[in-house]
Order: sequence, then C-alpha cells, then structure tokens
Amino acid sequence: MNSIIQQKKVLEYTENFIRVRFEKDGSGHDWWHIHRVRNLAIRFANIEGGDLFIVEMAALLHDLDDWKLSGDEQMGQTKAWLIQIGLPNEQSEKILSIIAEVSFKGAGVETAATSLEAAIVQDADRLDAIGAVGIARTFAYGGNKGRLLYHPDENPEMHSSFEAYQKTTAPTINHFYEKLLLLRDRMNTSTAKKMAEGRHQFMEKYLEQFFSEWEGKI
Ligand code: ADP
Ligand code: NI
Repeated sequence: MNSIIQQKKVLEYTENFIRVRFEKDGSGHDWWHIHRVRNLAIRFANIEGGDLFIVEMAALLHDLDDWKLSGDEQMGQTKAWLIQIGLPNEQSEKILSIIAEVSFKGAGVETAATSLEAAIVQDADRLDAIGAVGIARTFAYGGNKGRLLYHPDENPEMHSSFEAYQKTTAPTINHFYEKLLLLRDRMNTSTAKKMAEGRHQFMEKYLEQFFSEWEGKI
C-alpha cells in the first residue's frame, strides 16, 4: 500500500470503523482513548521517526482485540479488518506485531518493544494510562467491573505472570501500585519520558490526598 491517497483512505476507513466500535465503551477504553493515543503516537513518530502509516494504524487498532474488552471468542478482529481492507501481508504483520507488544502484562512481566513503531505506540498508550486522564480511566474501569475503590486489608500484588495479572479483582487503588506508578520508568522514547514525569507526580499527589481524606485527616 504505497500511494499516499490509498493510505489516507485506509486510515479514514479504519478510524470510522473504530469510532463506531468504541463509541459506547464505559470502561475507559472509549473512542477518545484511541483518539488521544493516536495523536500522541503521531507526535512521537514525527519527533522520533518510524513509519507514520504503520504507527497510526497500530494506534487506531490497538485495543480492538484487547483481552479486557473482547472475550476470547472475538479474538482476531484486527486481522479480519486488515484482510478486509486489503492491506499487504507485510504491513498487516507489522501492525499485528506492534499491537501484540503494546499491552502491560503485569509488574514482573517483561514487555520490551522490538521496533521503534512498537516503542512509540506503547508509550502513547501508557501515557494515556497515567496522570489526570489515567486516574479517570482507572476508576471508570473499576466501576465498570464492579470493583471497590479501596480496601485497607487488600494489599497490591506485583504480578509475575500475565495470567495472574488478568485474574485480579482487587480494588481500583491497587492498580496504581500494580501498574500506573511503574509506567514512568518504563517509557521508551525521550519525549514520552519527559511527559510521564508530570503525570506521575500528579498521581502521587492524588494518592496522598486520597489517603489523607480516607483517614479523615483533612
Ligand atoms: P494496556 O493494554 O496496557 O492494559 P489499555 O489502553 O488497554 O492498556 O488500558 C489500560 C487501562 O485500563 C489502565 O490504565 C486502567 O485505566 C484500566 N485498567 C486495566 N486493568 C485495571 C484494573 N485491574 N483496575 C483498574 N483499572 C484497570
Ligand atoms: Ni489502549
């Protein structure tokens, strides 16, 4: 898919498909999450390099087959879409391999990005998981899954396998310790590292305030 016009069309079709598909998500993975991740990924690719078309496609499609959103029976939607729009195999494989590397899989699980494009999309997705937006998304997810906000007797766990991470039903505050506060030090690109700093500090302040209020101190 070499012509710019063809690529533009493919991006447009894909955006429309994803926009409709994620319109009503109430778990913090709605269309606007995809939109923010796509825009951040484009910005990083413009600064750091990488194949812009591949980056944008992977960002748009990155949550379509996510285990948190689609049951196992729905797996393979991304591949089906790429076949439907007639993308050459080589490009489809690249997009699918980036998406496979994007997700966080547990505090103790290695998720290194093996290409610049994967590093960029991973950074964009992880930036949207932290800061003020990240906090909002996390409580939306917890509410969507019927989780408690916090329970003083349930301590965070540093999951050493993806299976253990997937099984947790712990209160939402635990997710800050099990994932969100770890992301700053796991960013790939220097642009994302800089942005992560302020978002990280905001979460730390938020948690401090949360616990002070929980104990009725302020
Ligand atoms: P990833 O693929 O890395 O999981 P996503 O874009 O799919 O990234 O979204 C992850 C977001 O979903 C988290 O940052 C958080 O907001 C929410 N989330 C996932 N698991 C939990 C959980 N156990 N508790 C609360 N929020 C969660
Ligand atoms: Ni995402």
